[in-house]
Amino acid sequence: MKLDFTGETVVITGASSGLGREFAKAFSAKGCRLIMVARREARMRELAAELSVPCEILPADLSREDECNRIIETIAGQGASVLINCAGFGLLGETVGHTLEEELNMIDLNVRAVHILTRRFLDLRREAGTGAILNVASCAGLLPAGPYLNTYYATKAYVASFTQGLAQELADAGSKIYVGALCPGPVYTEFTKVARGQEWSSAKTPEEVVAYAVKKMEKGKTLIVPGAGIRAGLFGTRLVSRRMATKIIGRGQKGRVEAE
Ligand SMILES: NC(=O)c1ccc[n+]([C@@H]2O[C@H](COP(=O)([O-])OP(=O)(O)OC[C@H]3O[C@@H](n4cnc5c(N)ncnc54)[C@H](OP(=O)(O)O)[C@@H]3O)[C@@H](O)[C@H]2O)c1
Repeated sequence: MKLDFTGETVVITGASSGLGREFAKAFSAKGCRLIMVARREARMRELAAELSVPCEILPADLSREDECNRIIETIAGQGASVLINCAGFGLLGETVGHTLEEELNMIDLNVRAVHILTRRFLDLRREAGTGAILNVASCAGLLPAGPYLNTYYATKAYVASFTQGLAQELADAGSKIYVGALCPGPVYTEFTKVARGQEWSSAKTPEEVVAYAVKKMEKGKTLIVPGAGIRAGLFGTRLVSRRMATKIIGRGQKGRVEAE
């Protein structure tokens, strides 16, 4: 499958920061019309002012099902052919150290919103039979478990699994609709601050990750893992038991938990 996004209408969630913001820049460079979704409207307006393509700003809290549905109903009929599901967050620390409400909010955003938007966007594209959906998972979603960033790892495992399965179903049906999962390792964004952790000692820039992701999307790649080091690390965890891998990952994440 070869895809060309030039001039398409692209919906990007999480466009106010980090990877989502970078996706907005990358697709604007391809002359795409953008529909940006996140909570911080002012941030998206500032970004739109920098870009030389038409941008629609849709402020929304995607952890709410009614807001996800409102977004789909707003974009229906606007001919959007690409959806980048990028909004998401994690929380570092012991699972029991977070309130249940915080954890459920993460599941609502990282899992439920991605599922709702993917399903309903596919419905919107059914008649045209073309389009693309990129779900931003994480390399966390390809690992057995992630103590001290535990619920986040579990949510990303859902996204990676759901997306890969869906891509196979679409391929089996001969569909021209592309579905892919982006699974980056560490990236310098606001993620760590939101997760209440210490900044990565080494990470990729959003520019590097997004340029790689778009290139792979254009080639129709389903599972996109930027960085040879991350791919080697993922392979390495398969050489030890799941229990051992979980222990090693947990040590790393525990070290990033910010001291109170
Ligand atoms: N940074 C990394 O190391 C890394 C690695 C692997 C995967 N990822 C994934 O990459 C994606 C983007 O994260 P990032 O690293 O770019 O972090 P970021 O800079 O914190 O961006 C997160 C985005 O999600 C949006 N968001 C958060 N809660 C939302 C809500 N309830 N409703 C709507 N939008 C919401 C934020 O916008 P508002 O606050 O304005 O709503 C923001 O635009 C996430 O899915 C993350 O899990 C990140």
